[in-house]
Amino acid sequence: MAEYKRTLITSALPYANGPVHIGHLAGVYVPADIYARYLRMKGEEVAFIGGSDEHGVPITLKAKNEGITPQDVVDKYHNIIKDSFARFGISFDVYSRTTSKIHHETASEFFRKLYDDGKFIEKTNEQYYDEEAGQFLADRYIVGTCPKCNNEKAYGDQCESCGSSLNATDLINPKSMLSGSVPVMRETKHWYLPLDEYEPWLKEWILEQHKEWKPNVYGQCKSWLDGGLNPRAVTRDLKWGVPVPVAGAEGKVLYVWFDAPIGYISATKEWSADWEKWWKDEDTRMLHFIGKDNIVFHCIIFPSMLKAEGTYNLPENVPANEFLNLEGDKISTSRNWAVWLHEYLEEFPGKEDVLKYVLTANAPETKDNDFTWKDFQARNNNELVAILGNFVNRALVLTQKYYNGEVPNRGKLTDFDTETLERLSTLKSEVEKSLDTFRFREALKLAMDMARLGNKYLADMEPWKVVKTDEERVKTIMNICLQITANLTIVFEPFLPLTMNKLRGFMNIDKLPWRELGNIDLLFAGHKVNKPELLFEKIDDAMVEAQMQKLFDTKKANDMAEASVKPVKENCTFDDFMKMDIRVGTILEAEKVAKTKKLMKLLVDTGIDKRIVVSGIAEYYNPEEVVGKQVSIVVNLEPRKLRGIESQGMILMADNADGTLKFVSPEAMVVNGSEVK
Ligand code: MF3
Ligand code: ZN
Repeated sequence: MAEYKRTLITSALPYANGPVHIGHLAGVYVPADIYARYLRMKGEEVAFIGGSDEHGVPITLKAKNEGITPQDVVDKYHNIIKDSFARFGISFDVYSRTTSKIHHETASEFFRKLYDDGKFIEKTNEQYYDEEAGQFLADRYIVGTCPKCNNEKAYGDQCESCGSSLNATDLINPKSMLSGSVPVMRETKHWYLPLDEYEPWLKEWILEQHKEWKPNVYGQCKSWLDGGLNPRAVTRDLKWGVPVPVAGAEGKVLYVWFDAPIGYISATKEWSADWEKWWKDEDTRMLHFIGKDNIVFHCIIFPSMLKAEGTYNLPENVPANEFLNLEGDKISTSRNWAVWLHEYLEEFPGKEDVLKYVLTANAPETKDNDFTWKDFQARNNNELVAILGNFVNRALVLTQKYYNGEVPNRGKLTDFDTETLERLSTLKSEVEKSLDTFRFREALKLAMDMARLGNKYLADMEPWKVVKTDEERVKTIMNICLQITANLTIVFEPFLPLTMNKLRGFMNIDKLPWRELGNIDLLFAGHKVNKPELLFEKIDDAMVEAQMQKLFDTKKANDMAEASVKPVKENCTFDDFMKMDIRVGTILEAEKVAKTKKLMKLLVDTGIDKRIVVSGIAEYYNPEEVVGKQVSIVVNLEPRKLRGIESQGMILMADNADGTLKFVSPEAMVVNGSEVK
């Protein structure tokens, strides 16, 4: 679409079954906010829509586990999420929720229209039913043994142990999570959207007409479409959700992925009586900001729903991001492997923009990326403090010092001045190009280049030296530095709005529109700037180490929880056991095996002889700690070579739940060579 009058920006509605974390921010809300702010600065008409997704099975499970109602769960998390977003300055025009009356009505009417227009197919099939609980079971409500890997705690939709996606009927020994009883098969009726019928149209619309979508988005759509689409059930047997508005459909609700995207429509309605122009006018363009796990829903299913309805616009683009990992591991709500926004806000007060900066600088735009606290610290200290903060501080402090805060006149320009100012103007179009194509990390890097430009200019010009010889020249230098600073308040506004507000306070200027970017006469001579404070402060090692310790503790707790006691092995005979010759010995010498992490070479006095044993304990003990210890050793184990060293026996170790190893030692000193039996 070349011409548009206004932009509707939606951002995925987060599930209200937990707080939001850095992955949410990096993947969806920060990019959507940057874009919304950018368009507003350009004077465009924007609606930035958000809200909580409050239906779905996980919420009902959480409620059941905690002994509260699903409504209690969503009330709690909706408020936490909404508050976190507000404090991070995510500039939603409306932040709604899908339990609202207006949403239930809107979703219900939407379904009803499709139903009346004959857009659904009805199908009856058999599904698991819990006779004790008196209800049909969503796949997530069923546990059983995975047919692929024998994990006994696989869910009806997926085995988390081997990662296979399953059907509830694949499970061996299925059990209901509601009552623990064995579910039975029972017939149930559902409504399906025949996605197969939309396939030719989707192929044309996406694969031909939207080749400009990001490669990760286009690629995922293509593989879905190439794989062929099937009718998709849009109703569920569940009590929590939007009731299916059809006679005889008691006990059924709309599938959460049917109602949630309609939440964008309801939120717009809640915000403005004039909502229809945002959804139906041809000159409105709609953009969905989402994470990669949402691509199929926003590019295939929701558009098919909108197409079926017939009066709504389709998305113009879906700039989805990949995932952000944390310190090398996948972020996980259930494993508490996350940096929670509400916790960050408490632990790093006033540093909201710092996190947004780091998340944008390292945004998972084209591939999964990793958040590490070391990188967080480095970007804060080496970029925000050392480049942006340092430049504006020096510019403003020197202005105070030389001119009592008054912007000096600019005199004759040198070639270097002209070059610097020209670079300032070319940066404008470069930043715009990046922003217009949703390449926010590139845009941010270009904004930082503007600060670098200022820093370099100041360092090269050395006004603190020139001031001794040429007062007129210093005026020009400082004027240019201040013009650059004023430009920084514009270019960084979409990314660091809280900080730029502060900076404008120091500069004593109002918010400037985007079109002024590149203008080198933003400040008139004589304009008075204020005494600055530091825009950013250094983050020290202790702060970062505390965060890493917190994660380490989480990991340990998870490992402990997961290390379940291993099942008993097959029986062995007394003779089998007696074949093993286990003795008590004393470790005489110990050294780490070079170039290995785990191995230690031990010299052990077995009472019979002194022999070399290579043991995998180097991660848990230092050589000094083990010398002199009495241990149990299998002395008749076939010798084997480890890293070129022949190991003659095996030291017995207890494999502790946290993954550490402990010696199995006699409770009091005994003579070396004593048998263990
Ligand atoms: N709640 C979903 C998730 O977190 C996103 C829903 S987006 C909407 O993955 F379109 F359905 F609203
Ligand atoms: Zn499995």
